[in-house]
Amino acid sequence: MSANLTREDTMEVINSVGADTEHLLMILLELQRKSKHSYIDEETAHIVADAVGISYNRMFEVLSFYAMLETKPKGKYILEVCNNTPCYFNKSSKVVEVLEQELGIKPGETTYDGMFSLQYTPCVGACDIGPVIKVKDKVYGNLNPAKIRELIDTLRKQ
Ligand code: FES
Repeated sequence: MSANLTREDTMEVINSVGADTEHLLMILLELQRKSKHSYIDEETAHIVADAVGISYNRMFEVLSFYAMLETKPKGKYILEVCNNTPCYFNKSSKVVEVLEQELGIKPGETTYDGMFSLQYTPCVGACDIGPVIKVKDKVYGNLNPAKIRELIDTLRKQ
């Protein structure tokens, strides 16, 4: 794995959140959010371990314990399909089916070109327009196959 955040950027996040073990999870989540491919690479993990004073083994235990922490690069766009009950009843499984056909990947996977990752998310608070997909901070609702294909095309062109 190669670094996707500079040492300076990493240290800036660590110092702004607070360089101690109490803030470890918050530091890692913030670094992941800032990472170009939404993951914590090995070099970054080592810098954080040194800064908060824990062993590398302990750091890798933490990284593998929390499901929300990623250690592999994700796509440029992470398509998060809500699968909580209201969206489920509005056929969120159909959304996943269309995305699987369009992208050739299953939830938890990333396309070969590194453009898209597909995953589930809990409720994003937009149940009235379900089924929904969240991409970065934007929520797309009232989806049907045509709208999903349009969204993928738009993202591909960006
Ligand atoms: S259940 Fe999907 S947005 Fe709330």
